[in-house]
Amino acid sequence: MNEAVCIDCMEYMKNIPDNFFDLAVVDPPYFTGPEKRGYYGSKVSKIGVHRDYPLSPEWKVPDFDYFSELVRISKKYIVWGCNYYNVVFSPGRIVWDKCNPGSSFSDCEIAATNCHDSVRLFRYMWNGMMQGKSIADGHIQQGNKHKNEQRIHPTQKPVALYAWIFSKYAKPGYKIIDTHLGSGSSRIAAYDAGLDFVGCEIDKTYFDLQEQRFQAHISQQSLFVTGG
Ligand SMILES: C[S@@+](CC[C@H](N)C(=O)[O-])C[C@H]1O[C@@H](n2cnc3c(N)ncnc32)[C@H](O)[C@@H]1O
Repeated sequence: MNEAVCIDCMEYMKNIPDNFFDLAVVDPPYFTGPEKRGYYGSKVSKIGVHRDYPLSPEWKVPDFDYFSELVRISKKYIVWGCNYYNVVFSPGRIVWDKCNPGSSFSDCEIAATNCHDSVRLFRYMWNGMMQGKSIADGHIQQGNKHKNEQRIHPTQKPVALYAWIFSKYAKPGYKIIDTHLGSGSSRIAAYDAGLDFVGCEIDKTYFDLQEQRFQAHISQQSLFVTGG
């Protein structure tokens, strides 16, 4: 099973039994829509990502009820942007070093997890057209821009980040949920890893874009497998 649902994740989670998912990997918005628009400034980024999309009126920063539901439905969690929420998480942290010193964006992003108590580091370049070469050589820039991941969402995370997460934190047969799917990077990485996956995305524009991206990915994979 690998599916995306265009729905408010609070609505989706209501109908899910306790501990149904093995792992939740989530990246909720930490700004409301209008603040976000102001924060990102121009309507189209330098690398052509549209920021002038219609924002869903239901988009809101997750509150206590969201996190209560999340820990109810999933045995383990990885919550990106944990430093922005007034919530007490388990002590484990994952730091993603974006290898972009000098940019005005954050050098790193931080996730809270109950998968371990320690702090783990993943290095993968992610700054406009500058992207990492591979999971192993993430600190080295990909030389061939044609191999760069296409950017369709202003806060898109690389597929490589999710591929690394699943290689470390998921086991075969795991059921994964991403409550805030965005560009669908997590969905693509789960598909490649052969994991069961559900993603929720409230915004129809992004839902459609991630669906196109996912379908393009799987048809490319099947061409590769069949050699066609
Ligand atoms: C920070 S972005 C996620 C980016 C994603 N990790 C990626 O790699 O592209 C948050 C996404 O959550 C969506 N969203 C906001 N509120 C939501 C809700 N209540 N339920 C489902 N999706 C929501 C937004 O439309 C946005 O696409």
